[in-house]
Amino acid sequence: MTRHTKRQHALLAAIPSPKTDAWTWTEDHPHPDVGADEVLIETHYVALNPVDWKGVKYRFGLTPEPKVMGRDGSGIVVAVGDGVTDLVAGDRVWYCSNTALPHSGAFQHFSLHRASQVGKVPPSVSLQSAAAIGTGFLTAAVLLFKCFGFPVSKANVCRGRKTGPWIFITAGASSTGIYLIQLAHRLGLRVITTASKPNHAYLKSLGADVVLKRHDKDHELVHIIRKYTEDGVLLAVDNIGPKHSAVAREILAGSTAWRAEHHITTPSDDTTGRLVSIAGSPKEVPVFPDAVRAVDEIRISFSTTFYGQPEFAREIVNFVYSQLERGLLVPQRVFLDTSGLSGVRAALDVLEAGKVPSGYKLVVGGLKPLPSEAQIFTERASAKARGRLEKRKHYHLDYDLFDLDDLEFDPDAEDAWPPSRKIARSTKPASAPLPSAAAPAATVHSTVA
Ligand SMILES: NC(=O)c1ccc[n+]([C@@H]2O[C@H](COP(=O)([O-])OP(=O)(O)OC[C@H]3O[C@@H](n4cnc5c(N)ncnc54)[C@H](OP(=O)(O)O)[C@@H]3O)[C@@H](O)[C@H]2O)c1
Repeated sequence: MTRHTKRQHALLAAIPSPKTDAWTWTEDHPHPDVGADEVLIETHYVALNPVDWKGVKYRFGLTPEPKVMGRDGSGIVVAVGDGVTDLVAGDRVWYCSNTALPHSGAFQHFSLHRASQVGKVPPSVSLQSAAAIGTGFLTAAVLLFKCFGFPVSKANVCRGRKTGPWIFITAGASSTGIYLIQLAHRLGLRVITTASKPNHAYLKSLGADVVLKRHDKDHELVHIIRKYTEDGVLLAVDNIGPKHSAVAREILAGSTAWRAEHHITTPSDDTTGRLVSIAGSPKEVPVFPDAVRAVDEIRISFSTTFYGQPEFAREIVNFVYSQLERGLLVPQRVFLDTSGLSGVRAALDVLEAGKVPSGYKLVVGGLKPLPSEAQIFTERASAKARGRLEKRKHYHLDYDLFDLDDLEFDPDAEDAWPPSRKIARSTKPASAPLPSAAAPAATVHSTVA
């Protein structure tokens, strides 16, 4: 067994004994050594997900022995194993940790990952934005490419007007929703989604065709969606929970009575509606006597699909790189907390309390800024202070992520990086020209609920 001599800081969690906290902070955690097909990453930013606090609160994925939690991060490769050919030390990367593996959790400075599951970050994308890709993007990718069976290659092509089937996505401004909308759009699907009003323009800029108010009553929502789509929604993803999953099922089922009332003469087809509920389904499957079509509920297994299929994982991380590089995939907007690794525990409370602005990803930085990022930021801040801000194209980092007016920042301070707190805005171009229709693949691995 390897004896780890180097030590590091880490945030651990374990099944707690009565009256103890599940979380512990240590400054004496082993610094892992790299194996043959692994890469060692120095993390600069971690992005927080609901599962990070839910898992600990509801005790899933926890062991009696403390282990490092945390899924999503970005940083720099510092070492690669002998068998790794496509990553080298110095590469800027994003990852979504398989926390079942030892040394993989994001909430430590140095973590180990299978090379096939690590994505390179193109120079045009900042590391803080890249941290926000992980779980949200991969869930959306597994949903569309595995649960619904669309080929990844279809999402690579930009074609004309969208004529594909309608997909209904609840909570379009969730992390999963933001990536689902972009991918569905690229596949030529027509997207109808729900969100609070301030997120409507944002979701449309990502490719949503119709964005509805999230607070509409269920029966109103069903009615409005039937109207927009002529009762034609064939795919649905629920990102919220059982009640919303039931509404999605009702929409997918269609209604002969509604069609008669609204003089919809489209003949019923025998296409089965397909639903994935990532945040739980109702205990009893609702039945709709006047349904137009049957509904399959497809179960998602994020971890067995992404971590269990290295070829799929590699295809997806390569796809992300090319999409980011071409400006066709926009990472979720970032709400940055710069309190460093020791601030993650408090940041999780902020997330659990619902205090992160809707549609933003909570990213914790201050773990280790890139000198070049610090330098660019300082230069830009000084330039603005002198009233002659200009974009200098030879810098590869995303200037426009930072809105200096939002920052508490003293450009003369020596430790001007990182600024104390900010919301970073991505102003990358909206999605690509509309692709044409893509039909769902014939074979879908489905379980009818
Ligand atoms: N099964 C899996 O493999 C898997 C994978 C990933 C996530 N999940 C689960 O899926 C759910 C979504 O995760 P996420 O990270 O994508 O979500 P998230 O980013 O935390 O989504 C939050 C957003 O959802 C919207 N929302 C709509 N209705 C809501 C409601 N009733 N309560 C709270 N927010 C609501 C809000 O936007 P608006 O204000 O615009 O409505 C809010 O900003 C979580 O329960 C997560 O644990 C499961």
